[in-house]
Amino acid sequence: MAQERPLSLDKSRAMFDRIAHSIAGGESSYARLKKGLELCFERGEGSRFWDVDGNEYIDYSLGYGPLIFGHNPKKVTEAVVQAITERGSVATFPYDLDYQVGEQLVRMVPGVDLIRFANSGTEATMAAARLARAYTGRGKIVQMEGGYHGFSDTHFWSSHPEVFAENPKGYTEVPQPASSGIPAGYADALLIGQYNDRENMEALFAAHGDDIAAVLVEPIQANTGIIPPEPGYLEFLREITKRHGALLIFDEVITGFRVAPGGAQELYGVLPDITTFAKALGAGFPIAAFGGSREVMGMEERNEVMHGGTYTANLIALAAANVVLTEMREHRDELWGRLNSHGTQVALGLGDACREAGLPNIVQNVGPLWHIFFAKPGAPQITKIRNYREALAYSSIDVFDRFHTAMMERGVYFHPYHFERWFISTAHDERDVQQTLDAAADAAEAVARDLKAEGNS
Ligand SMILES: Cc1ncc(COP(=O)(O)O)c(C=O)c1O
Repeated sequence: MAQERPLSLDKSRAMFDRIAHSIAGGESSYARLKKGLELCFERGEGSRFWDVDGNEYIDYSLGYGPLIFGHNPKKVTEAVVQAITERGSVATFPYDLDYQVGEQLVRMVPGVDLIRFANSGTEATMAAARLARAYTGRGKIVQMEGGYHGFSDTHFWSSHPEVFAENPKGYTEVPQPASSGIPAGYADALLIGQYNDRENMEALFAAHGDDIAAVLVEPIQANTGIIPPEPGYLEFLREITKRHGALLIFDEVITGFRVAPGGAQELYGVLPDITTFAKALGAGFPIAAFGGSREVMGMEERNEVMHGGTYTANLIALAAANVVLTEMREHRDELWGRLNSHGTQVALGLGDACREAGLPNIVQNVGPLWHIFFAKPGAPQITKIRNYREALAYSSIDVFDRFHTAMMERGVYFHPYHFERWFISTAHDERDVQQTLDAAADAAEAVARDLKAEGNS
């Protein structure tokens, strides 16, 4: 049985304080911030990492997703070290790794004939949206409430809005800025839809069809836990965009090279016009890409739309991606056999363990990605979550937070924010699975006991 251990975070807290003297807020990404959880990292290896106090964790956060082969993947790291020691880190010209990565990528991803590299998912998505606007000559992009496409002024809208306070019923297509400082005028370039809701999308197109350049969607909504597409929903998006002369953009920053080698478009058999990638493509090294049909990417080919960047396609990024894609191509069945089987075992096992302990929940799982939504008191009696509104109506932040703490105390780490999904890597093995499920059973019992003692269950 997994034993609760006293979790000393003294060194982490001291280091965080020191970091915060020179780094605003102590972190260089807002997504990592969670007050009271100022963990500082020492090192990672395979499925595990250690904090500066020496605590060891099985990791289901994996650097926010890229570490598909686990921490410190030897083959990838060695290729990068070799590239930078023998060749350098950045070049003014294209080189052999461009075609080596490019050819592998277009072979693996069914909807991509031509690509361009970028440095982050944020950039790739901005480039994809600009391309769609340039190609169609239209101004508006539809994106989903509860989605995330990076922190740019043009897309960081309606990510996790507090919708119920102002709009208890019905949907709003009016975008809500997700940060201060975003110019209000950018709202004119967006419409907000509800994932998995066909009527909503029909209504948006009926009202604005001639102005819609593209629907930009995470094919599996993976920034509100995990919300898989309802059967036929992606096909519907493909059809309605085509019918109205708009493009379909899949943001596969999370799902690309993760739910299948060819991403969600391979898994569900629906091909978008443009796709964006990042995270797993570099297995921990910073690279992103966007690509699509030859017809649409022709505008990039002819330089009819601007995309660029000093560090795009640098040697570090491409040396990493070349090994990542080679490994995925050569060992696809073995790697996805492991990711899917271990992912599903942990996901379903977590749900069962929590339910048995008296914590009602919904687990949603697509192979190596999943999330556990804990029910709040009075939650709707539903068996699945189909969009952000349902996630918000169902989810208990309190139970999630308690479970998170209890799991950390038992050596298991996942993202501390209640709408961030769990990732698994090819380095996780049966022992990790078993240890995680033992910890979950013990943690869930402890949480249920505390809730009961406080009169909250
Ligand atoms: C679906 C999706 N798109 C885009 C991004 C932005 O990627 P990056 O953090 O590399 O800029 C993220 C980041 O988590 C994401 O989840």
